[in-house]
Amino acid sequence: MLGIETSCDETGVGIVRGSTELLSSVLASQEDLHREFGGVVPEIAARAHLENLIPTIRRALDEASADLRDIDAIAVTSGPGLAGALVVGVSAAKSLGVACDKPVVAVNHLEGHIFATFLEHPTFEPPAVALIVSGGHTLLVHIEQMGRYRVLGTTLDDAVGEAFDKVARVLDYGFPGGPAIDKAATEGNPEALDLPRPMRGEGFDFSMAGLKTAVMYELRKRAESGERVRRQDVAASFQEAAVDVMVEKTMAAARVVGVHRVIVCGGVAANRRLREKMEAVCDSNRMDLYIPSPKLCVDNGAMIAAAGAFRLQVEGSSPPDFEAASDLVEPFDRRPT
Ligand code: KG4
Ligand code: ZN
Repeated sequence: MLGIETSCDETGVGIVRGSTELLSSVLASQEDLHREFGGVVPEIAARAHLENLIPTIRRALDEASADLRDIDAIAVTSGPGLAGALVVGVSAAKSLGVACDKPVVAVNHLEGHIFATFLEHPTFEPPAVALIVSGGHTLLVHIEQMGRYRVLGTTLDDAVGEAFDKVARVLDYGFPGGPAIDKAATEGNPEALDLPRPMRGEGFDFSMAGLKTAVMYELRKRAESGERVRRQDVAASFQEAAVDVMVEKTMAAARVVGVHRVIVCGGVAANRRLREKMEAVCDSNRMDLYIPSPKLCVDNGAMIAAAGAFRLQVEGSSPPDFEAASDLVEPFDRRPT
C-alpha cells in the first residue's frame, strides 16, 4: 500500500505491507517556506505539494526497493486539512489509480495518526483510549474495536499544537513552535509561572486558548511591574500545564471507559515532557502505553498507508468520485454516550 499525505505542510509518502509493516516513509518538509510567515500559508502549501509530490513518491518507492508494479493499492488523506493542499494529494492518488489500474482508498488523517502506532506495535489490540494531539486537532477517543471510535472529548477552541505554536511565537521562538518550546523547556523552571490547568476535572473536552491567554496575561503583568522573566521558564511552565491537562484527561478517560491501554499520537506526541509524564503515570496505574516514535508522530505518508490498508480490507476501495473534505469527521462521529 502506498500512502499519500498532503493535508498540511508536509508532503509525505510511505509504503507499508499490511497495516503494520513499514517499508518506507519519506517526507518533503515545507518548514523553510512557511517560517518567514510564522505559520502555514495554505496557497504556498498547495503549490509546494504539487512540486514535491512526484519526487517524494519516487523516493519512497526507491527506499522500499519497489516500483509502481509492486504496489497493490493507493491510500490518500482526504481530510481533514487545508482544502487546497488536500486536493493535490487526492488528485494525484486518483490519477495514479487510473494510470496503474490500482484501487484508491480515502483516509481520515486522524485515523492515520492512530495507525502510526501499529507500525511499531503490530500486536496491539483494542479496546484503548487514544489522545490525538496535533497542530489542528485535539481528540480523545475510545477505540472500541479496530476502526470503530467513540469521541470522548475534543477542544472547545485552539488545538494543543496550535497553542504551542502561538506561545512560541509570543516568545519569539519562530515556527514551528512545538519543537522549540520542547527544547527551551529543558532549560526552564516549570513552576516559574503559576498557570491554570483549564477544565481540569471537567469532563474530556479541552480549552487550550484559555491557557495561552493566561500565559499572555502573566507576561504582561510582569512586564508592567518591571520583573524580568526568562523565556525558557515561560516555555517550561506553559508546557507543564498543557502536559498536565493532557495526561489527567487521558487517564480519567481510560478509567471511566475501563481500558488499560493508552495511545498518544499526532505531532504533539513527539513532545518529550508529554512522553515522559505519560510513561510515569501509565506505569504507576499499570496501563500499557503506546506512543509512535517522534518521526511517526508528525504527519507522514506511512500512517496513511497503514490506515488505508485497514480500510481497504474492511470496506473495499473508495468510490471513484470521492473528494477532498477539509472538515471530514467520519469515522470520528460523536455518538451519544
Ligand atoms: O500532526 P502534525 O505533524 O500536523 C498536524 O496534523 O497538525 O502536528 C504538528 C503540530 C505542530 O503544532 C507542532 O508545533 C507540534 O505538532 N509539535 C510539537 C512537537 N513536535 C511537533 N509540539 C510539542 N512538542 C513537540 N516536540
Ligand atoms: Zn497530523
